[in-house]
Amino acid sequence: MELQYNYSRYLEAKRSVDDRALNQGVLQVVRDALARKGDALLRILEIGGGTGSMVRRLANWGVVSEADYTLVDCDAESLAAMPRAPAGFSLQPIHSDITEFLKETNKKFDLVLAHAVLDLIDLEEFLPLLWSCCAPSARYWFTINFDGESVFMPQMPEDTKIWHAYHLSMNRRPGSCHSGRKLFTQLSDSGASIDASGSSDWVVHARDGSYPHDEAYFLHHIVDTVDHELRAAPPVDSVLFARWITARHEQIERAELVYIAHQLDFAGSSP
Ligand SMILES: C[S@@+](CC[C@H](N)C(=O)[O-])C[C@H]1O[C@@H](n2cnc3c(N)ncnc32)[C@H](O)[C@@H]1O
Repeated sequence: MELQYNYSRYLEAKRSVDDRALNQGVLQVVRDALARKGDALLRILEIGGGTGSMVRRLANWGVVSEADYTLVDCDAESLAAMPRAPAGFSLQPIHSDITEFLKETNKKFDLVLAHAVLDLIDLEEFLPLLWSCCAPSARYWFTINFDGESVFMPQMPEDTKIWHAYHLSMNRRPGSCHSGRKLFTQLSDSGASIDASGSSDWVVHARDGSYPHDEAYFLHHIVDTVDHELRAAPPVDSVLFARWITARHEQIERAELVYIAHQLDFAGSSP
């Protein structure tokens, strides 16, 4: 099957995977903290909000019913693909690098969200800047922080080398392939409290011969991302690498592929 890969479609396909993955215990701590904040209109900042999956989730799951919501992302195409804001949300999408935005804004926020994005950011520099834009006793909810474990089943002999090389490739950008576990020290060192943490692993498999929602596309996109990242210098013989990529796409077509990625969620207070 010839697929045209499109990042906005990937983000939308990822929504149902994230819905299952988000740690409900961590979310309950966020709900309880917001309930204690009372009736004042919440000022929410989302970092790297993409096509706005989280603002829709907050509304659909009844976490927040009204908010002044600032969503910053450096990708104009994702912002353009965002559907209308849910009722009750005054949504301001901002096309900017998050660090530039934080340096320039004079807004203060009561809740900051970062969903599947902190593994792309240098947190040592970033967290103090983020906290400086928070109102007193602001809360954070940082979700889907990748933590260095990826699994495809059925297993193939090349898996270990390919995943190792793919994870290392993440460390060549700002951020880390172990952003999940590193957040324990980075959050504490920055002065923030960690009130809850827990795993939010992606687990994707077929039911009755097909994947739910658009999750077959999600899986093809993951395989294509690995292909593009490693194709120039594959960690195994290039013929074996090409066969591995083709085999993984074919397993998705036959609804055989199982994918697991280990991630962590955190919630707490800004310093
Ligand atoms: C994996 S996507 C997640 C998008 C969205 N949170 C979701 O899960 O649907 C990461 C997003 O972070 C954005 N991003 C990465 N680095 C950024 C930065 N320094 N400033 C602003 N946005 C950034 C990307 O453009 C992308 O939309």
